[in-house]
Amino acid sequence: MSTPDLFGIATPEPLAQRVQHLRDVLHHHAHRYYVMDEPQIPDAAYDQLFRELQALEELHPQLITPDSPTQRVGGKALEQFDSVQHAVPMLSIRTETDTQASGAQNFDARIRKELGLSETDPPVEYVAELKFDGLALNLRYENGVLVQAATRGDGEVGEDVTQNIRTIGQIPLRLLQNVPAVLEVRGEVYMRRDDFEQLNEHQRSQGDKSFVNPRNAAAGAVRQLDPAIAAKRPLSFFVYGLGEVSPAMTGLTTQFEWLQWLKSCGLPVCEHVAVARGAEALTAFHQRMGQLRDQLPYDIDGVVYKVNALALQQQLGFVTREPRWAVAHKYPAQEMLTTVQAIEVQVGRTGKLTPVAKLAPVFVGGVTVTNATLHNEDEARRKDVRVGDTVIVRRAGDVIPEVVSVMLDKRVSDALQFTMPVSCPVCGSTAVREEGEADYRCTGGLFCSAQRKQAILHFAQRRAVEVDGLGDKLVDQLVDSGVVRTLPDLYRLGLTALASLDRMAEKSAQNIVDALEKSKTTTLPRFLFGLGIRHVGEATAKALARHFGNLDGIMQASEAQLLQVADVGPIVAQSIRLFFDQDHNREVVEQLRACGLNWPEGEPVPMASLPLVGKTFVLTGTFPTLSREDAKAMLEAAGAKVAGSVSKKTDYVVAGEEAGSKLAKAKELGVPVLDEAQMKAMLHDGT
Ligand code: IVH
Repeated sequence: MSTPDLFGIATPEPLAQRVQHLRDVLHHHAHRYYVMDEPQIPDAAYDQLFRELQALEELHPQLITPDSPTQRVGGKALEQFDSVQHAVPMLSIRTETDTQASGAQNFDARIRKELGLSETDPPVEYVAELKFDGLALNLRYENGVLVQAATRGDGEVGEDVTQNIRTIGQIPLRLLQNVPAVLEVRGEVYMRRDDFEQLNEHQRSQGDKSFVNPRNAAAGAVRQLDPAIAAKRPLSFFVYGLGEVSPAMTGLTTQFEWLQWLKSCGLPVCEHVAVARGAEALTAFHQRMGQLRDQLPYDIDGVVYKVNALALQQQLGFVTREPRWAVAHKYPAQEMLTTVQAIEVQVGRTGKLTPVAKLAPVFVGGVTVTNATLHNEDEARRKDVRVGDTVIVRRAGDVIPEVVSVMLDKRVSDALQFTMPVSCPVCGSTAVREEGEADYRCTGGLFCSAQRKQAILHFAQRRAVEVDGLGDKLVDQLVDSGVVRTLPDLYRLGLTALASLDRMAEKSAQNIVDALEKSKTTTLPRFLFGLGIRHVGEATAKALARHFGNLDGIMQASEAQLLQVADVGPIVAQSIRLFFDQDHNREVVEQLRACGLNWPEGEPVPMASLPLVGKTFVLTGTFPTLSREDAKAMLEAAGAKVAGSVSKKTDYVVAGEEAGSKLAKAKELGVPVLDEAQMKAMLHDGT
């Protein structure tokens, strides 16, 4: 007998072969999914194969092998970790303290001197890599199977964290090709910023302690004694070097070749690696990556330069515990010390009260920061931040800066503990914290001027109806003077009323009037998003508009009908219903329409009939006729997704004048590149 597999090909029995076959197929697809980010089969199909293997192994436990994909989580909680003596010591790396261009020059000059090169000799070839901010791991593969994962420890002796590391999907349990009998690879285990934010969001919502930064969260997960808990912490991995390799591999003579080979074994290698000749090329890499730093999905604290040729590395050797052939060239720190000058409570659009620390200005993560969020009451209390305290502030990527922790030994004795106010600091209404919620909310609703101001700013922002020039200073004035109470009041503002405001010249008043007029012609998704319905972001507003076609349809829809919309779940549906059930909200909508706000309405369009459904586009550069926003709106109206960065999942890049790194990335990945005209043509027929 034989069993048909996923591809309809008969697999020979006996059972052991079927089990082996399932493992091979699962290893292959796990690599496509976790490492290449390019799945070939739907998750459900993977799960089906996985469950088949699980069932067979349960019936025949003698067939279980340690590299089976089913064996990622398994072991029981440990008392402590075993020690591991590293076969080859895990070194540390010298840091160039100079953060400027001379960092690379100093390194290159040292290398040239050590190698006895003169000025007339050709440039030295280096590899430039990112310096990931996580923790170092040694992975030991024997006959291609992962047998041990160890932390660096003191460089000689580390800890055996194999159980936890096996739970990381990106780390292959078995390598994809023939490798030396012993192959140790080294790399960095880290947590992506989005995974970290999500984990902390979850911790906070559970009333649990949040993690200080992705590195600490990753370190905590790796050193977690219970592998079941470690498995729930989302970790990632990049390989960047080698430990013991025996028998030695011949044929690979450079660091760069090794990295490519390790990649072909199924190990995750970072895409940002470059071969660079001479100091200038290294500096260019440092600058390029410095610009990219905020957009990367993970933290880096610098770049690493390594002499590319292994023979030269050997010749250069080590000083104490650091190789002479490598150096780290740092970026400005993402965490810095500063002092808290005040703690204020800010009121958001939905009434959420957020404690914010006002800081002595500090340069962190490349910008000057003066505010840092304390998130909510529990978090503020747990961190026990007080006015006058010296604190660590963190800013990474475009994440809002936050206070990480307090330097308790620097606390002044009379520093007052922070308490959450029981009433709204702006309107005096009672502040309540609902059961099971982490946040206090002002109950003042639109009575609260802070909420009104935020609601107006939300409506007027670029991504909503866009009233150019209506910023927070002007909104403060309009609301505080009582001229504007509701959104429709904005459209009743005359030139005289505006011009009579403090510091408002006639010309600027006219500009605002014009901008208000212009904003009246909008689109349904922008208008809907602008209303500020809780849980209705841009994507949901678009989905609603597409599904219902017109506003009345949405306003009248039952929760059940709302649930039919892609991406709308029970909480969102309830929130939309709640919003339109309130007379004053419907009144605002009617008045806005009466003021002349308008948008094209139509019939509902079923998603599947749109020409570009399932296609992902990335826009870059300046287009001859369309603005970026317009191009995005047109693509989305045709069912496409518009993403911010180019990856293997991108179907098309639309490039205009002065397209930069995204275009380069598209070429590198072989993603088709269109111009504006070609894009417009696709909008109609989808090809
Ligand atoms: S190579 C022999 N490459 O930085 C050189 N290290 O002290 C050994 N790190 O904790 C290190 N990114 O984990 C190297 N691309 C990279 C790295 C990297 C991060 C970490 C490493 C270690 C520290 C070096």
